[in-house]
Amino acid sequence: MHVNKQQHRATRLLHCTHDAADYDGAVGMPIVTSTAYEQATAEELEAVFTGRAPGYVYARIGNPTVTAFEWQATVLEDGLGALACASGMSAVSATLILLAGGEGEIIASPAIFGGTRYLLTRTLPPLGIHTHWVDMQDYAAVEKAITPATRAIFTETIGNPAMTVADLDRLAEIAGRYGVALIADNTATPYICRPKDHGAHIIIHSASKFISGHGNAIGGLIVDSGTFDWSPPRYAHMREWVEKFRHFAFLAALRSQVQRDLGGCLSPFNAALLISGMESLPVRMERCCTNAAQLAAWLNERSDVAEVNYPGLPAHPDYAIAGKMTDGKYGALLALRLGTRARCFKFINALKIFRNVANLGDARSLVVHPASTIARELDKESMLSSGIYDDLLRISVGLENVDDLIADCSGALDAAE
Ligand SMILES: Cc1ncc(COP(=O)(O)O)c(C=O)c1O
Repeated sequence: MHVNKQQHRATRLLHCTHDAADYDGAVGMPIVTSTAYEQATAEELEAVFTGRAPGYVYARIGNPTVTAFEWQATVLEDGLGALACASGMSAVSATLILLAGGEGEIIASPAIFGGTRYLLTRTLPPLGIHTHWVDMQDYAAVEKAITPATRAIFTETIGNPAMTVADLDRLAEIAGRYGVALIADNTATPYICRPKDHGAHIIIHSASKFISGHGNAIGGLIVDSGTFDWSPPRYAHMREWVEKFRHFAFLAALRSQVQRDLGGCLSPFNAALLISGMESLPVRMERCCTNAAQLAAWLNERSDVAEVNYPGLPAHPDYAIAGKMTDGKYGALLALRLGTRARCFKFINALKIFRNVANLGDARSLVVHPASTIARELDKESMLSSGIYDDLLRISVGLENVDDLIADCSGALDAAE
């Protein structure tokens, strides 16, 4: 593995997956489908099993193609290491179960993806994991919510679809004072936002989105920044892992306990698709962000659009934070308010290029009405605190020519009068 830290991340990303010599000169990472991995002797297999020797034993715990994808994430996020998961949800749940299982508390932003809200409100409480919902820009409230049982502060880098931007530097300062792990679900993508540089300890991705970039594979990632000390009493349940694996404790426990027991591993076929996606992430994000900025500016001039919520618009309340967090790129997601649900539906039905789907981060531009789809099971109050209104649409901007996107929106707005 050639990881030359003098090179730009976009360069390293393309050359970090494997040594071609290990695979008959194959330049692209091959798909290794073997479920089990042989060692020459019983003693050697025992050594790999117990972590005393490197190697693979069983593909639920590790697989060479999946490892190659984990290397890419580690390079992009400048992490200590990564674990790939079956989906973004599996990455979120594995992390929170490890950190907070058994009467642990999470402080979470309400302005997050509906699926994560469901996880925190429905599935995790019976496992003894309880959530305090706190506005991540109310720093006094974040600090006040910290108790001896707090195991993590959880936020998305750009809230989906609220478009609120987390100031990770400020949250990390609070988390650091109390020795609490700061987790960032990096909706902004590892190319335009590197949460480690702003103090986040754990970074999560739904790789199904911009990392895949082609809407063809579900996957997730957990990256450990390597900057957190897991030894204090707040994480006493991880003591055994800390004693054995020191600063690798979180990754070791995640892979060898949670992933092994819950089984949410990534398939090598999906890993291969996601590796290809990751390779072109930098260039795609440049184009998607430029398109999004132009489309948002155009929509913002329309008198028949009640509100354009895009953190790259100078009037957006989080414009300054977004500039800092995304290196001035602001992301490729935006939200629109059209006044009524009926207008939203008419607009969607009249679009010819944007696809009406519950996904984001495709090469194609996508649109969805969250209140009737992804977030429809949230109660009214949760919907509002998640920034979801009945007249709100989420748009994920793709790689098309931006003039075509603008013309499509223009026609659909006229049809939605
Ligand atoms: C911010 C965020 N986190 C997590 C997820 C879950 O990811 P997946 O669909 O890969 O399970 C999503 C999916 O929409 C998301 O938008």
